[in-house]
Amino acid sequence: MNAKITLIPGDGIGPEIVREASAVLQKVADVFGHSFTYEEVLMGGCAIDACGVPLPEETLKTARKSDAVLLGAVGGNVGNSRWYDVAPNLRPEAGLLGIRKGLGLYANLRPAFLYPELSQACPLRKEKADAGFDMVIFRELTGGLYFGARRTVVREDGLREATDTLVYTEEEIRRIAVKAFDAARLRRKKVTSVDKANVLDSSRLWRAVVNEVAKDYPDVTVEHMLVDNCAMQLVLNPAQFDVLLTENMFGDILSDEASMITGSIGMLPSASLGEGRMGLYEPSHGSAPDIAGKDVANPLATILSAAMLLRYSLGLEAEAQAVENAVAQVLKEGYRTGDIMSEGKERVGCRSMGQLVRERIEK
Ligand code: IPM
Ligand code: MG
Repeated sequence: MNAKITLIPGDGIGPEIVREASAVLQKVADVFGHSFTYEEVLMGGCAIDACGVPLPEETLKTARKSDAVLLGAVGGNVGNSRWYDVAPNLRPEAGLLGIRKGLGLYANLRPAFLYPELSQACPLRKEKADAGFDMVIFRELTGGLYFGARRTVVREDGLREATDTLVYTEEEIRRIAVKAFDAARLRRKKVTSVDKANVLDSSRLWRAVVNEVAKDYPDVTVEHMLVDNCAMQLVLNPAQFDVLLTENMFGDILSDEASMITGSIGMLPSASLGEGRMGLYEPSHGSAPDIAGKDVANPLATILSAAMLLRYSLGLEAEAQAVENAVAQVLKEGYRTGDIMSEGKERVGCRSMGQLVRERIEK
């Protein structure tokens, strides 16, 4: 098949990890006989430096014309005044929020499971790590606090006051819930919907709409959990979760927590999807400016994001599995980047890790 892929390396370690992951895509194309073309565009801090804005019009245009977008990471040290002493809508992260919204990618899938090979890196007690877990978070990505009106004013009494607004429409809740239930059907058939319905109106609407959607999925068990309890349950008994469905801000926080119990945030891919097949794929971690350019970053989250790209945007399931198998194989053979290093294993850099995965991709 022919596919057009937009590459957005971004900032920090972004260029290194996208280089390895796009080379993995090319290896898949060679082995399976596909033809992928790549177009590289700017977003984030590098776009601010080159064009004065974090999301140039050109970037959005190129992304819209492609079948899928592979993104590294954006942003830098908050001490970087060129990027951060400006209005929030001009900071590197605004590029990321802008492209998610601009492409209508409202469903953010973040799988979190424990590779048996990495159970030593799991910070939970041994018996919990040994029990394993395998969940996927469905985070709503284009609504809620991230996109509601905000303002900071100085009141008449001289005190500053800041407001952020949490808005959800019934439609926004329904479409992400449908995606979560569809996914649960293909997994262990359980949806845990997370909210704060004991306090928030938006959460009460969330719960009501999820219950309405659940009626169409009698084969899927639905359960509601308050977000504070969920934060606790994730470390107490992660094996209970299959599909975890939640709004934007709760999903941001819970997905970092879920990723950490897998041993390293350097392992976790993500997919952001909308109505069609086009999607944006990025590691769940950030740009790690402190280790940028040193060839020590873990490219596996980005490589696994490329596997999700093959699966969801291109419909190439066998190819996606070939990449995932290659990653599992490399781990089994004992190769580790610094973040997942443990005793007796062989430490490798970003480039070698990418190379090792590519060598193990087969039809
Ligand atoms: C994430 C990140 C972003 C978010 C930031 C960089 C805006 O934390 O993708 O989880 O909050 O969505
Ligand atoms: Mg986050």
